[in-house]
Amino acid sequence: MSEERYLTFALGKGRLAEKTLKKKKKIGITCEEIHDKSSRKLIFVNEELKMKFFLAKGPDVPTYVEYGAADIGVVGKDTLLEESRRVYEVLDLGFGKCRMCVCGPESAKELLQHHELIRVSSKYPNIAKDYFYNKKHQTVDIIKLNGSVELGPIVELSDVIVDIVETGSTLRENGLEVLEEICPLSARMIVNQVSMQMQSERIKKLISALKAELEKAN
Ligand code: PRP
Repeated sequence: MSEERYLTFALGKGRLAEKTLKKKKKIGITCEEIHDKSSRKLIFVNEELKMKFFLAKGPDVPTYVEYGAADIGVVGKDTLLEESRRVYEVLDLGFGKCRMCVCGPESAKELLQHHELIRVSSKYPNIAKDYFYNKKHQTVDIIKLNGSVELGPIVELSDVIVDIVETGSTLRENGLEVLEEICPLSARMIVNQVSMQMQSERIKKLISALKAELEKAN
């Protein structure tokens, strides 16, 4: 009976979704329609496999999964840490690798060492708060931004930023550098807690197939 219902996947829009779909294709899960860039459709169905896929903003993916609107999600570890949703994190997909770092001009190094009251701008206020308050025991003023966070120290909004560093080129081109590393990041597969029990066979099969595919690729 559990084979009857659709399994729904929420994928974070952008690079992660493309890479996820490629991996899924390798284990026989396809959804051709989703690749049509001209379409404004939000949800795609593979009738044969009884699966549905939708693309959502990254930070919303754990929300859809926690509430059961999606059974499975693929999202960056950064989003999981920031959103703290009640979901099972079941697999490190190994792509979308990058680092969460404290960055700024070289001159800001000293401010970090001396635990001064500094301003930190970030798209990730919860990660920044946890790092400075709980790990470094440094009181800071956190300012939430929604993107282009590297502007923070340049226009003197903040002393440093907490942000994702992948190639490091955004930092270099703006005269900033990594001052401290917070944690490594990559794409993760997450599962709704009830779905994990009710659809356990299908979901476990999927996890095993993806794991085998990841091992083959390494
Ligand atoms: C992310 C991140 C950095 C950049 C890092 O921004 O916030 O700005 O990528 O990548 P790099 O080390 O390879 O240069 P994103 O492109 O998601 O846009 P945003 O600044 O609007 O968040």
